[in-house]
Formats: sequence, structure tokens, C-alpha cells
Amino acid sequence: MNDLLPGELGGEMAPVETWQHVERTTRELFSRFGYGEIRTPTLEDTALFVRSVGEETDIVGKEMYTFDDKAGRSLSLRPEGTAPAARAYIEHAVSNQEPLTRWYYIGPMFRYERMKTGRYRQFFQIGAEAYGSKEPAQDVEVMDMVVQLLEALGLQDISLNINSLGDEACRPAYQQKLVEHLTAHRAELCEDCQRRLERNPLRVLDCKNEKCQAIARAAPDILQFLCEPCKAHFDEVKRKLDALGVRYVINPQMVRGLDYYTRTTFEFIAAHPALGTASTVGGGGRYDKLVKSLGGPDVPAVGFGLGLDRLTLLLKEGGQQYGAPPDVFIAVADEGSADEAFALASRLRREGLKVEFDTRGGSLRSQMKRADKTRARFTLVLGQAERESGKAQLKPMAGGEPIPVALGEVAQAVRAAAAPR
Ligand code: HAM
Repeated sequence: MNDLLPGELGGEMAPVETWQHVERTTRELFSRFGYGEIRTPTLEDTALFVRSVGEETDIVGKEMYTFDDKAGRSLSLRPEGTAPAARAYIEHAVSNQEPLTRWYYIGPMFRYERMKTGRYRQFFQIGAEAYGSKEPAQDVEVMDMVVQLLEALGLQDISLNINSLGDEACRPAYQQKLVEHLTAHRAELCEDCQRRLERNPLRVLDCKNEKCQAIARAAPDILQFLCEPCKAHFDEVKRKLDALGVRYVINPQMVRGLDYYTRTTFEFIAAHPALGTASTVGGGGRYDKLVKSLGGPDVPAVGFGLGLDRLTLLLKEGGQQYGAPPDVFIAVADEGSADEAFALASRLRREGLKVEFDTRGGSLRSQMKRADKTRARFTLVLGQAERESGKAQLKPMAGGEPIPVALGEVAQAVRAAAAPR
């Protein structure tokens, strides 16, 4: 779990300004798509995740932070956001109030995973969930939203992989073929997968064990087994992606590590060394049966989760910096000017400027050192002469002629200097 700090203080993690930039960009863009924000608790009943993400998944089977509260109820720190959102959707009877619901969230998730760059035990997800439309257009809308977010962030070389996992009509036949294939290699499977083979064979396909992965690669291709309606749905998803000019790769190997998916699944994978093997920046898909299986109405849904830690690492790697330096540093030339300089700083902030003032006082020299460090655009030194004349000099830190300014018009002068010529 990481601390996020401003500026360069945070070590491996991207500066908090980068996080804020991604969050701002997300909120602005998602609201253009009509998605409203939800904030759900960090803790949920353990059973919620067992019933939705699935008992045989690594997430629930190995990675959850689970404990009993004082009343003996089993609670878990949320390992993902889809199940909590569905729980809230059901609890607030949202489907009775509107037929189509679009939500997003940004927040911490917890998985007890092996740590490495881009993989943490507390990590942050940007997620979105759309309830109420079974149409391919809804699948494509959520993918388009991710594509546009990555574009807005200036992130390139991230490829969209898509697949279909079929539904309850066609998956059993596929599952049977898969079990035949896996049974033929039973002895080579890891212990977990031997159990999964009995209880949830699809989960063998996302086992991290190398031997299991080799066997999974030779498994029958799920796309060959899709029933007509699932095939038509997948074809329409592809056609609509084409129509929007969104590029994608069909990846029949991709099953995702959670049980609730039906039909479309997708992942965004970065070809970037900064993330090493943690290169999946996001994933999602359709889950038409989840809301009902949790005791809610029969409402189809589709959504995604993006790894905020990974997005910010990519931006950091790209050298982008966010967070503006101060507009002006107010320095005090003599003790008698301290109060007026302090008041000037306060007033300029009220007028909308970003202002630095060294509350420790000290010599003019030490204040100027501080001004340098903050990379303020201008300094303004206030002393007896300035107080008496009501005028001062705005000195550009990057060099150039000082700008004479009346003490009552500093904000206007800074803005005028900032305006493009
Ligand atoms: P997920 O694939 O488990 O899907 O996670 C989504 C993203 O969260 C991953 O692609 C990755 O970028 C990030 N992530 C996962 N684990 C970690 C970790 N330990 N450290 C850093 N980043 C991580 C879900 O969680 C689904 N709820 C997505 C979804 C929403 N499907 C439908 N709606």
C-alpha cells in the first residue's frame, strides 16, 4: 500500500498532481457520456463478493482482506467495484425509478497480491457500470469511453482486446469440451486447477501457473461455440467499434478473472515496459445475470475497471508534469513590511492567484532561495519604499524586464503578463 505525495516526494509512485489530473479528466469526460458518480463503502459483506466475483477466483479465494467485526459478521475490504455498485443498485431499487442507469466510481480497492511495479495491495480503480441495456451499443459506449479517456490523457500504444464468453445457452457445451481437454492434462495441472476443473473449469484459463497457461493456450476456442444470439451480439459489437473507428484485437484466450461475465469481455493492454507484466490497464465486460443473481431484478449490465495506479505510472514515465507553480512569490524586505506583505498575499489569493509567502520570515536572501525552489513565475518584494509609493516590481523569475505595478493591481498585472501575446 502506498502513500501518495505531492511533487517529487513520492518515490516510485506518480505525484499526487498526476492523480488529480487523471481524476479531473475522468470526471469531466464521463459526465459528457451521462455517467453520474457513486460512492459506496470500502467494506461489504464477504458473501457479496463470494456470490458475484466467485469462490474459485484468485480474487476471492486468495486475495481478499476478510475479517469478522465485533458482531461476528464476516466483512471484506472491497477487491473490486462491480459487486458493491450492483448491491447499491438493488438496495435503492434504482430500476423502479429509471430504466437506464449509468454510474462511475473512483476509489481504493484491496487485493492481497504479490507486490511489484503496478501491482499493489491497495490500488485505485476508475470504474463505470451501465444497467438496463442489453444492446451491443451499450458495450461499445463503455469501451468508447475508455478509448476517449486514454486519448484525453495522451496515452498511446494501448490495445483493446475483445472476446465473448457466451451465455447460459452456449457456455455449457463449451465448458464440456474444455473439461475434456483439461482432463486429458489433469496430472500436469497445479493443485488449485485440479480442483477448479471439478468446480469451475473456466477459471483454469486464467491461472498464473506457467504449466496451466500452456495447457490453457491449447484449449478449444470459445468463439467457436457461441450460439446464434451471442454470435450476433458479438458481430454487432465489432461492427459498431468499426463504425466508431475504434481499433481492437480479437483475443479468444481472454476469459477475465471474475465469474460474473456473460458475452462481451474486453481488456486494455499497454505495450509499455514501465508496467512490466502488470500491463493490463483496464478490463470489463457484460454481466447480464449478476443483478438478478444477487436478488435484484432481471437487469442486464456492462462496465469496466481501470487501474489508476497504472495510468498514473504511464503518465509519469512519459515525463508529463501536472500542477501549476505559484504565480507570484511575495517577499518581505524589512520587518516593518511583514504585516502588509502577509495581507497582500492573502488578498491576491482571494483574487484567484496562486501565491507563496514564507511564513518563517528570515532574510531576503533566504526568501529568494525559497522563491527559486517553488519555481514561482514572479517575485514581488515589499519594503518600506513600496509601501510608501504604493508601487512595486513584478520580477519574472525566468529573466526579463521587471514589470512596474501598483500594489492595488497586482492580480490584473500577473494575468495580463500570463495572457498569450
Ligand atoms: P479487474 O480486471 O479485476 O476487473 O481489474 C480492473 C483493473 O484494475 C485491472 O486491469 C488493473 O489495471 C487494475 N488492478 C487490478 N488489481 C490491481 C492491483 N493489485 N494493483 C494495481 N492495479 C490493479 C474488475 O475489477 C472488474 N470489476 C471490472 C468491471 C467493471 N467489469 C465490469 N464492470
